Amino acid sequence: MPSAGRSNLGGVQAPFSVLNFEEAKIWAPLISLRLKNGSMPPWGAHQQHQGTFKNERYISDEDKQLLIGWVEAGALEGDAEDQPSTADELALSAPANEPTLAPDGSMWWMGVPDATVAFADPVQVCEEASDWQPTILMHRTGGDLSKHQWAQASEIRPGSSTMHHGTSNYLGVAVPGRGPQVYPDGWGFLVPSDPFITLNMHYAKQSGPGTAVEDNTVGGLLFYEPGDVIDYVVQNTIPMNTDIVIPPGDPNYMATHEHTIEEEILLLALAPHSHYRGKAVKIELELPGVDELETLLWVPDYDFNWQFHYEYHEPRLLPAGAKMHVTWWFDNSAENLANPDPTAEVRWGPKSSDEMMNARYYFTKPEPQGIVVGDAIPESILAQARRGTILPGPAGRLGYEKY
Ligand code: HEM
Repeated sequence: MPSAGRSNLGGVQAPFSVLNFEEAKIWAPLISLRLKNGSMPPWGAHQQHQGTFKNERYISDEDKQLLIGWVEAGALEGDAEDQPSTADELALSAPANEPTLAPDGSMWWMGVPDATVAFADPVQVCEEASDWQPTILMHRTGGDLSKHQWAQASEIRPGSSTMHHGTSNYLGVAVPGRGPQVYPDGWGFLVPSDPFITLNMHYAKQSGPGTAVEDNTVGGLLFYEPGDVIDYVVQNTIPMNTDIVIPPGDPNYMATHEHTIEEEILLLALAPHSHYRGKAVKIELELPGVDELETLLWVPDYDFNWQFHYEYHEPRLLPAGAKMHVTWWFDNSAENLANPDPTAEVRWGPKSSDEMMNARYYFTKPEPQGIVVGDAIPESILAQARRGTILPGPAGRLGYEKY
């Protein structure tokens, strides 16, 4: 359970803390409920992937039963003598590192950013909003974004508790339990001059009187210094199938697509994405000359509310000619409680009420590139980086329609 002060948090946090008995007791019934229905701890990848991805959140049956048993036995306080006396004794609460304080008073887990961006005006998440996903333009608030720069890290700092997750073309993603995106030394991504940085926000809250919130989410980037060497340029691509036509009421519509890897890559992370009708996703790998498919990722119970990023502990080397076979299942029936309209025929589209079946992945070239920061940037890398730029739409300076 996250709470402020833990090192692996992106600032997108669970709604309460359980660092002491008094706090935990209040939540006991809900803790048992969430453990039994499997919605906590939140994680999408099937148990078969345990040990493969960073920040995984599995709970053993034994621990689960221990917690449920504690609740069912009346959620009693343990022996005072056994209680950890300092925060350090609580392995869970001992932060591995501390956030850095910037001169303007803001706190950053990745270190003080070289450039910062923010919304033109705070976003008004009005009383009626319960589940709102605007794509918002970020404006430079500090540092220099007027020249091409190599970044090593990015961080999104949520500006309200209603932010459920955020995805940005240059800032990366903010999801519960995920810290800033910090690449190892020599790994980086290019932020082209004057990038058009957008942030796709997902605001989730109860609707109704008194629930309006103002959101001031900000983003930051950490750049390499001239003379540093970039060996691995992180890129991402989004294989997708836009031909889906999901019939009204269909509880198990299946759609597939294939994606061939043209040149050898190091695969860093997988980030599949669909909307409310997304039910499950499987990404299988076909290696040249090998008949049997290998399951790279199996998410048996996809949940649009949790946009997980499956990052390998050890990047995978995939040869040229390897193929990803992507299969999505969708539930367009009334049984799917997240379904906004089971009577609708659903096609591909950008709104949450439309569907997507993306299989975004992050990768680098396997051989070191030896790019010296400050030297001319290879045209192909610049073009690739600019592909992340979404040009301003008709919504103008804000980049989104108000709710
Ligand atoms: C044994 C482990 C965990 C238990 C028992 C647990 C329990 C709970 C409970 C009871 C709630 C619901 C509060 C409500 O309904 O008002 C909740 C919500 C939440 N938890 Fe957890 N949690 C666990 C692990 C985690 C972890 C590891 C994360 C993130 C890294 C997390 C993130 C969240 C978030 C963001 C919410 C709010 C969204 C939601 O209600 O779905 N939890 N958790």
